[in-house]
Amino acid sequence: MTTVTTQTQMQTAQGYTYPPGPKPKPIIGASFDFSRSPLQYVTRLQRQYGDAATVQFMGDFKMVFLFTPAAVRYVLTEHPRDFTSREVNYTLTRLLGDGLLTIDGDFHRSQRRMVQPAFHKKRIESYAATMVQHTEEMLAGWHTGETRDIAMEMQTLTLRIVAKTLFDVDLRDDSDQLGRAFNDVILFPNDRRLSWKKLLHLDTPLTPYGRYMRGKRKLDETIFGIIAQRRATKEDTGDMLSMLLASQDEDASEMTDQQVRDETMTFFAAGHETTSNALAWTFYLLSEHPAKAELLRDELDRVLGGRAPTMDDLAHLPYTDMVIKEAMRLFPPAWTIGRMASQDFTIGNYHLPKGQVVLMPQWVMHRNPEIWGADALAFRPERFDPQHAQEVPQFAYYPFGGGPRMCIGMPFAQMEARLLLATIAQHFRPRLVPGFPVVPQPNITLRPKYGLQMTLH
Ligand code: HEM
Repeated sequence: MTTVTTQTQMQTAQGYTYPPGPKPKPIIGASFDFSRSPLQYVTRLQRQYGDAATVQFMGDFKMVFLFTPAAVRYVLTEHPRDFTSREVNYTLTRLLGDGLLTIDGDFHRSQRRMVQPAFHKKRIESYAATMVQHTEEMLAGWHTGETRDIAMEMQTLTLRIVAKTLFDVDLRDDSDQLGRAFNDVILFPNDRRLSWKKLLHLDTPLTPYGRYMRGKRKLDETIFGIIAQRRATKEDTGDMLSMLLASQDEDASEMTDQQVRDETMTFFAAGHETTSNALAWTFYLLSEHPAKAELLRDELDRVLGGRAPTMDDLAHLPYTDMVIKEAMRLFPPAWTIGRMASQDFTIGNYHLPKGQVVLMPQWVMHRNPEIWGADALAFRPERFDPQHAQEVPQFAYYPFGGGPRMCIGMPFAQMEARLLLATIAQHFRPRLVPGFPVVPQPNITLRPKYGLQMTLH
């Protein structure tokens, strides 16, 4: 494709105008530089090119990065129908099938209506006691002075909670096996353009694909088993699955087993790794900022006085909420949102073609000093003090996305994160083992690459 580069934009022979971007390396483009350190790469990109940038990857594949709240609003809320999710969520499709995260258009709109009752406020609130109970059971096994991988602990805990609230299943005996199945599935690489990788697509335990298939089979077997059992008894066990099975479309049709499987798998996947990472990063930040941990502890002592938190207490724990919000600003569990244009579109000075992939990384927006000030990288929960929160421009902060595809699990996640933090921080203050390498790894979610080894105080 012939391109003419000016200082501010690139014009293609087809009449499209792209944002500026780094000169691509021969053949590989930016593929190597990007995949070596995606977070640093996208941060530099914004610093260098400002509002938007174009990056050319291997195979003449261009990606446009959007860095302003106005551009995010344009894509997510002003023109959501002009952009699709399925193509960019390719790896997820392989695991989740046709669940909310991976479907588009009318199908997405009708499915979203169908599953909404599962997230009804009263139903979600009824899970508070389960969340606290599982946390207390975890804490019963913790002892002062020992060292634990807090990221792993949070993952096991949120996995147990989602299994219980979604399927009424107790994973306490089986969680490590299911957790491993999830890891096998989630860590499988998201790159279908590299055809040589197909060589690794042999279904044996030695290949990543084989491990992926083993994980998927294990998960499917479990989920279809639960659905069959539940259809047979027709019992409302108070979980989200009961709501999904009872849910009907406008024409009174119900979801097929496959649809229920795809939606529950979507909630299962989207519903634990995100929240566990939010909590893991929160404990890391509190460990690095003892004065903020002290303020949190004061609030918990004052309001709870040592007893377990309930749903009603949350309204009286504003600092707990601010701590989590600030942690999700600095370490957004969903570190970027992507879309593919379903038609040509014009955004600012740029005119871009149908099929163009755009990425809107929260990681960059949430850390941009032009928005958050010179101390953008400082952990300061006070930014989210309700008296000042309205000063944050819309879409400068979007850990849960926005528009018609905004996270449907947000109320669940916010309640869970606050209850778990309040329960744990009353009893323990985990401190990072000195010198332990903390490296954010942008996989599907943003997780600490080596976990978080912390000593319990
Ligand atoms: C801290 C925790 C969480 C974070 C940061 C988070 C973040 C997000 C984000 C950014 C999106 C939008 C993605 C996009 O626009 O492409 C999303 C969508 C979604 N999330 Fe969450 N999420 C969290 C927890 C949960 C939980 C607990 C559940 C379910 C129990 C859940 C289920 C979903 C689903 C089903 C969607 C797709 C919605 C749609 O496309 O209609 N999430 N989430």
